[in-house]
Amino acid sequence: MILVVDNINTFYGMSHILFNLSLSVNKGEIVCLLGRNGAGKTTTLRGIMGLTPPRSGSITFAGQEIRGKQPFRIARLGIGFVPEDRLIIPDLTVKENLEIAARRKGQWTLEGIYKIFPKLKERESQEGGTLSGGEQQMLTIGRALMSNPELVLLDEPSEGLAPAVVKMLAGFMRVLKEKGMTTLIAEQNSSFALTFSDRAYLLEKGKICWDGHCDELKGKPEVMKRYLGV
Ligand SMILES: Nc1ncnc2c1ncn2[C@@H]1O[C@H](COP(=O)(O)OP(=O)(O)O)[C@@H](O)[C@H]1O
Ligand SMILES: [Mg+2]
Repeated sequence: MILVVDNINTFYGMSHILFNLSLSVNKGEIVCLLGRNGAGKTTTLRGIMGLTPPRSGSITFAGQEIRGKQPFRIARLGIGFVPEDRLIIPDLTVKENLEIAARRKGQWTLEGIYKIFPKLKERESQEGGTLSGGEQQMLTIGRALMSNPELVLLDEPSEGLAPAVVKMLAGFMRVLKEKGMTTLIAEQNSSFALTFSDRAYLLEKGKICWDGHCDELKGKPEVMKRYLGV
């Protein structure tokens, strides 16, 4: 197990948001955290990154306790974070956006990223801000990979993208998995996430209400309807 979140409780001021939440991710797995808007997906990912630290519980990454550590220390240990709002730098070129994100040496290089996202190679001299939504999402994922993380946290990568682009993104996710990437992905779009994830956790009002293999979840339309409304 590379990531173990054990019984965390998170608050924003007085409001209790995550309730005894536990989940784990094995090396090489894609695990999805599914839930409606407001369920607590972003808060969970921000908690792992140390941006919204839980008040209690434990988070271990590669055997080391990380709850209470500063976000930059957690990133340095090898966790890449792709936030919901796609933090690219609009007036740097695609190539510059990728280059400044490079940190640890490893399997991911500029060339490797261009290989899986050829569109980024085509646009390498273009400013980040001129890219389409789908291209920006590729760039944010590319940026996270440039730091050669052991684990990537993706927050709703499909949000706001056209259906054809979402389909393409699912293809990229399968390529990343083949390359051995370990991923925890938060999504509202379960039909997207279930096409490439191994296991799923369903989140409702800050509590995990179901977890298991994606193949099992696909055979449970009543669970999907109840917790995800699909
Ligand atoms: N900065 C904040 N301050 C107070 N409440 C917040 C803040 N961010 C999120 N919340 C609340 O926490 C709950 C979980 O939000 P969030 O983790 O963003 O859910 P999701 O990502 O699943 O849509 C929601 O009820 C939301 O209104
Ligand atoms: Mg969110």
